[in-house]
Amino acid sequence: MSDLFAEQLQALRARSLDRHLREIGSAQGPIVDLAGKRLINFSSNDYLGLANDLRLREAAIGAINQFGVGAGASRLISGTQPPHLRLESALAKWKGMPAALCFNSGYATALGTLPALATKSDVVLLDKLCHASLIDGAKLSGATLRVFPHNQLAKLTNARILIVTESVFSMDGDRAPLRDLVELKKYFNALLLLDEAHAIGVIGPNGRGLAVAENLSDDVDVQMGTLSKALGVSGGYICGSRNLIEWLINRARSFIFSTAPPPGLAAAALAALDFISSTEGEDRRRLLWRNIDILRERLSLHSGSAIFPWIVGDEQAALELATDLQAEGFFVPAIRYPTVAKGAARLRITVTAVHTAKQICSLCDAIKNLKKQRRN
Ligand SMILES: Cc1ncc(COP(=O)(O)O)c(C=O)c1O
Repeated sequence: MSDLFAEQLQALRARSLDRHLREIGSAQGPIVDLAGKRLINFSSNDYLGLANDLRLREAAIGAINQFGVGAGASRLISGTQPPHLRLESALAKWKGMPAALCFNSGYATALGTLPALATKSDVVLLDKLCHASLIDGAKLSGATLRVFPHNQLAKLTNARILIVTESVFSMDGDRAPLRDLVELKKYFNALLLLDEAHAIGVIGPNGRGLAVAENLSDDVDVQMGTLSKALGVSGGYICGSRNLIEWLINRARSFIFSTAPPPGLAAAALAALDFISSTEGEDRRRLLWRNIDILRERLSLHSGSAIFPWIVGDEQAALELATDLQAEGFFVPAIRYPTVAKGAARLRITVTAVHTAKQICSLCDAIKNLKKQRRN
């Protein structure tokens, strides 16, 4: 059976595009155990260091003790339990929106939501660098897709209708020009879907994201996010009008035809939200920005987020640099096609609030040395 795929796998290897799972033998955190070696971890989206936080663990355990591990059925059958409803009402309040709906993942959120909002007779306008989940959701909708060059709205000339973008682009770390997008959406009388996956917990008061930071919340019709990155847990959500949420409950297939998220995860996400909304959470976010500034300054890189791409270009060169950094004690993943365009391979450095300044400075020194060696 495996021979069927041997040739195709060999073709991937020849282009340095093969991928492999790595077993991390420890909990998430600034230091992880990879193949028995302790590495400083600059690979995760756990921006606030919540993935292994005691408060979240205790919330999950408490909910598991009360409600069990599995939800038993989809949300519409018998899978809706108090932790799901509490989380949705807290998310809506936090985002300042009338209602919220949670999905099993950010990916499932996009896959269910886009086809519920656009159909064959509609047009979806997507930024070229949108995440795979948004592209797949748009394709699944059957709508006509129009892709505009990254953040270049002047190229957006179609008449209708669902504009899709991200607050912070996951592989580039830059931000969408939200104010311009809102103007455009008004001009076209379109709907605007904003994926805040890498912005919540990071940007805006209490980490409420870019729409809130720019005071544009009322103009973003469909506010998407994940519970899996700065919130440290798992799952995705949509916030919006009550009618939008009711529509998704009736039309989003990844919501309707999938077992509800485990109640323990919903409880842990609620604990994360409580933390992020607290003054302690705000302090943690400030620490994240202090760390972002250190990296920004030391490497003279620009980024409006916790994501710093070191664009290398060649796939094999990116893999080799990741291996070199690993030998120096750092875990920084090489990102290649199809996650990014061919020939646009990069190292994706993510900084978190729980890194020490010393850890960040030592990574920057190692990167500077590697850059020097590459020049010679
Ligand atoms: C911008 C963006 N949207 C959605 C997702 C999917 O979220 P999840 O990992 O929760 O499925 C990701 C995760 O990689 C992402 O970067």
